[in-house]
Amino acid sequence: MRVDTGQVFKLEDYKPSEFLIPETKLTFNLHPTKTLVQAELTIRTRSGQPPNAALVLDGDELVLRSLAINGKVLDAASYTATPDRLTINELPQADTFTLSIETEVAPEHNKALSGLYRSSGNYTTQCEAEGFRRITYFLDRPDVLSVYTVRLEADSKEAPLLLSNGNLVERGPVESGALDSGRHFAVWHDPFPKPSYLFALVGGDLGSIKDSFTTASGREVELGIYVEHGKEERAAYAMAALKRSMRWDEEVFGREYDLDVFNIVAVSDFNMGAMENKGLNIFNDKYVLADEATASDADYAGIEAVIAHEYFHNWTGNRITCRDWFQLCLKEGLTVFRDHEFSADQRSRAVKRIAEVRGLRAQQFPEDQGPLAHPVRPRRYREINNFYTSTVYEKGSEVVRMIRTILGAEDFRRGMDLYFERHDGDAATIEDFLRVFEEVSGRDLSQFALWYHQAGTPSVQVAMRHDADKREVTLHLEQALAPTPSESRKRLMHIPLQFGLVGQDGRDIAVKAAGEGVEGDVIHLRKRHQTIRFTDVPERPVLSINRGFSAPIMLAMEQTAEDRMFLARHDSDLFARWQALTTLYTQALTQAYRTIRGGSTPEFAPALLALVGDTARNEALEPAYRALALSLPGEGDIAREIGQTIDPDAILAARNALVLAIAAANADDFAKIYEAMAASGPFSPDAADAGRRSLRNVLLDYLSAPAGDVKRAASRYESATNMTDRAAALAVLAHRQSGSPETVAALADFESRFRPEPLVIDKWFQIQATVPGTATVNTVRELMRHSGFSIDNPNRVRSLVGTFAAANQTAFHAADGSGYKLFADAVLEVERRNPQVAARIATAFRSWRSLEPGRQDKARQALVAISQHRDLSSDLRDIVERTLA
Ligand code: ARG
Ligand code: ZN
Repeated sequence: MRVDTGQVFKLEDYKPSEFLIPETKLTFNLHPTKTLVQAELTIRTRSGQPPNAALVLDGDELVLRSLAINGKVLDAASYTATPDRLTINELPQADTFTLSIETEVAPEHNKALSGLYRSSGNYTTQCEAEGFRRITYFLDRPDVLSVYTVRLEADSKEAPLLLSNGNLVERGPVESGALDSGRHFAVWHDPFPKPSYLFALVGGDLGSIKDSFTTASGREVELGIYVEHGKEERAAYAMAALKRSMRWDEEVFGREYDLDVFNIVAVSDFNMGAMENKGLNIFNDKYVLADEATASDADYAGIEAVIAHEYFHNWTGNRITCRDWFQLCLKEGLTVFRDHEFSADQRSRAVKRIAEVRGLRAQQFPEDQGPLAHPVRPRRYREINNFYTSTVYEKGSEVVRMIRTILGAEDFRRGMDLYFERHDGDAATIEDFLRVFEEVSGRDLSQFALWYHQAGTPSVQVAMRHDADKREVTLHLEQALAPTPSESRKRLMHIPLQFGLVGQDGRDIAVKAAGEGVEGDVIHLRKRHQTIRFTDVPERPVLSINRGFSAPIMLAMEQTAEDRMFLARHDSDLFARWQALTTLYTQALTQAYRTIRGGSTPEFAPALLALVGDTARNEALEPAYRALALSLPGEGDIAREIGQTIDPDAILAARNALVLAIAAANADDFAKIYEAMAASGPFSPDAADAGRRSLRNVLLDYLSAPAGDVKRAASRYESATNMTDRAAALAVLAHRQSGSPETVAALADFESRFRPEPLVIDKWFQIQATVPGTATVNTVRELMRHSGFSIDNPNRVRSLVGTFAAANQTAFHAADGSGYKLFADAVLEVERRNPQVAARIATAFRSWRSLEPGRQDKARQALVAISQHRDLSSDLRDIVERTLA
């Protein structure tokens, strides 16, 4: 474990490396506890002159076995080797030399899942961000690009499969005598220079499915997906998604694949979602394996998105990589944008956009508004692994989307083309990226660039006035940005707001704007206050603004409930239509919260309840859209809206009250639509069928909300023929009818049915971890002792412990502090094995200051208890100290 040293890395300290490594030859002798790694590095000075300083290579928990330069073993006086650094003081007087390093590692004991480790008996690697230095000493930084040749040797029975990056050049036991008996080898060569974080190997015994893809220019690419034996059929959807991604990237971005093979390997122990290693993507099996009995529609959508994301990295990340880790959003934000666009094209654009925005608000907004806030391009870090955040990824994607909104689709594409052309083979920066868009469009993006440099969610206030006599509409806009950690003074942002003025017939009124700041249907808000006048407006319109969520902001608009209801029924922009309804929900919920806190019973406007019913019945809207329109803001969303002295119990009560009111007002219609959405044909994971299931399951939740209404969900559970319906029915039973005999029976049935399927048992953990109420603290404690749980496996930890803290407001924030205590203990237990995963789940504490004083105090005590542990990892110490600061 990398113990915290207090060292802080700063963007302004960036210096190119004095030494380069044009070529890297690696030989691995794979063994569970004694893997020998021989690295032969061609080292060249950047200056072309003999070296004038020591060569310092990165390491992490390494054991050096031998060291030679140009074939000559170094004597002990000329270097110092520690587990985390190799310093060679005496170097040849030449601009190029060969350094041979032998290290020894123990994959079996590597529970941090960074570097070379074992998962279900297979050898695998994860090198991003700084895992390569856990394999050999290296210049482990993304701007040092090298051409790799990798020779793998292993026991032929234990690891018949040997994969690495690039193309296979040789394999076998041909050179008889050279290998010990029972061992074999394979040699892989990757012609594309790459940074060390993109290195990967896999050795093991796996099943596979194969396919092929012919690129636009006629290159034949062999595709392989490797999974646990017996699960091959479950990789079919991932393979189809891969081929669709490859075609889409050609059609939409003009990007073709560049090697003869593309392999994907699914492993069951993985810290993140997946990894884009050149030609050899390694995946969390959760994002590969799917069939109707074990995967939900959300799982299918996740697979499609992650397969695409990692594939798209081949151009945005691999061909063009990052100069340093401060530039992480250069590849991640851009690649998320690309995978979002892909999914939008494969599915329904409006539905996809709403789901994105819900995710952004639930994850990124609280990050940006709390103690862990940081710019999309950070300036400092103590532990880079803690910056794989929704700010870098999702807000990073929003920033790219805004560039397209500002430039228009055509100039955006020209900018991307120029970026690929100019920077292919580079380790680039955000400045490089912005420059291409400035060049192709002639626009000045310097104010816009603040989206990369300033943390925090801007808020925009809008007021509209209509002057019937003058036939004029005036918009007043005002922007503000609250201080964030270490950024007390903020500069004004360039905020692109897509808008429309909606006439009484529901259509947009063609408008003429007087003055600057409007271009087509986009308002460019650049000043603190901005006033825009529209002339020749025939009637009082209703303002629809931030359509499509064109900017990731908080919007406060003076608008009557009637106008919002009008938009919720008529806005031609489906996102804005959904937003109008969601705003109405939010207002009703915050009011109900205050009523409940005041000791009274909340009531809801009949017009709102009727609007919900009309939306549910509206067959002009696709079922997936209606399902989203019927989904109330989550407890976390409501908490964010309330802002401070949060009482999670009152939030839950308010939300439940609205659910019951909507259900009571629309019971008959909901029951009818519920029946109408029943499946007709065989199962398909496509968006249309998934949409029908999601509407049906949302309705099931409403229909099962009244106390005792357990029958429909129980029978739905029993008759379910796919995982979407089965898990949804189980969740409704557990969350709405907790403790009923039907719920107890269904939970037991689910467990016994899916015991051998860890990914399905994760759902069972998640559903139970999110049962509202304090009693869940004990449930989670007991489930941590369940035979299906493993503290070593990230998916299990996230499903049970992570979900409990991140998605169960009333249990995690139990007033007596028992939820915090359980969680803090679990975090420390995870940390001893896997600091990255511990640090990630510990971010659940981030909103602690917005709680009411009693809970705040208990949360702080739990955080302090963690921080007082000695020898905390750099990962966890960084999160805990920033959260407390
Ligand atoms: N680059 C990977 C992706 O596609 C994420 C890997 C992050 N790994 C880590 N240990 N921080 O998003
Ligand atoms: Zn990525």
